Amino acid sequence: MTLAGKRVLLVVSGGIAAYKALELIRLLRAAGCGVTCVLSRSAAQFVTKLSLQALSESRTYDDLFSLTDESEMGHIQLSRAADLLVVAPASADLLARMAAGMADDLASTVLLATDKPVLVAPAMNVRMWQHEATVANMALLAARGVRVVGPEEGPMACNEFGPGRLAEPPAILAAIAALLVPAAGPLAGRHALVTSGPTHEPIDPVRYIANRSSGRQGHAIAAALAALGARVSLVSGPVGVPDPPGVTVIRVETAQQMLAASLAALPADIAVCAAAVADWRVASAAGRKIKKTPGAPPPALELVANPDILATLSAPGPTRPRLVVGFAAETDALAENAAAKRARKGCDWIVANDVSPATGIMGGEENSVHLITATGAEDWPRLPKSDVARRLAARIAAALA
Ligand code: C5P
Repeated sequence: MTLAGKRVLLVVSGGIAAYKALELIRLLRAAGCGVTCVLSRSAAQFVTKLSLQALSESRTYDDLFSLTDESEMGHIQLSRAADLLVVAPASADLLARMAAGMADDLASTVLLATDKPVLVAPAMNVRMWQHEATVANMALLAARGVRVVGPEEGPMACNEFGPGRLAEPPAILAAIAALLVPAAGPLAGRHALVTSGPTHEPIDPVRYIANRSSGRQGHAIAAALAALGARVSLVSGPVGVPDPPGVTVIRVETAQQMLAASLAALPADIAVCAAAVADWRVASAAGRKIKKTPGAPPPALELVANPDILATLSAPGPTRPRLVVGFAAETDALAENAAAKRARKGCDWIVANDVSPATGIMGGEENSVHLITATGAEDWPRLPKSDVARRLAARIAAALA
């Protein structure tokens, strides 16, 4: 891969993963990409300016109020000279300051002053990553067009396990390449919104209502659309499958969050709603863990309907995507139910599949689907989910051509 002639402004923020920024610089330089580094206030506790300068073969900046820096290369000029700003690692603190539009050090100031695309690679403790504040900040940044790579799940420096590890440098490099050298393809210049995975509807802080969706089909569709050149926003419920390369992933938990993130991602040319959204949520989730009292009857859960994301996106209006595709997982009367669902939801196509337990499809690696359009139904053979995704992406590209 070559990134010759391209320039990245790499913002390194404070965190134990900052050492991986050194490897990222090495990979970028090997690909021919120019790299200039900016250190956030706390990053210097983890990596030295000297190592960044040596590897990037370029001056590293860290001081907003340096008269020499400002006269040689002002903070506006730093981003002007770059094709892409990359924040790796992106700490919870820097992401929060970006979301709030703060400019209290050189790193946050260049990020606020730029009109160039921004890619962030978050890295933090699992609880910080899952905190509502970080979730809300990430949704806000994604809605503003900030691209995200990672984090990955695994053992962490704080002796915990979960999502929060910085994406590996080759994955960050691939995300950078996808932005700097956009894939040519029939969907180049199109924006696709994909929902995927289950939603979790809280009962109390530790319990939730969920379903068996793995996110495999939705994630494969996001990857297939990106491979045809589309810019893809993937709004995903909690899943164990990895992020597709070159796709912006917006992580949510509940149906209400999924709807808000999907609407925030508009406008889009294409929407594919593959998520298994919970139909109901608990009317008022308890703020504290519900106690089991010996002898007392189990608590009754009052459920209320969740918003229908597919129907909302399909409703006529200025932001309706040109092509809206829904899914119908049915256990009986597949074709009739799917056709009725297409009409009821107002979407253009329905991908229908039989999820009766005998098929073993739900959560599996394969899918056997029928494509229901305005002109009728097509039966597709049983295929790996990645092949179903490629076939659907090709159909979408043909429909939009
Ligand atoms: O109504 P049902 O759940 O069977 O419809 C399935 C389709 O509707 C899927 O495309 C799913 O992503 C979408 N859906 C949604 N929001 C809901 C329920 C379903 O987007 N609340």
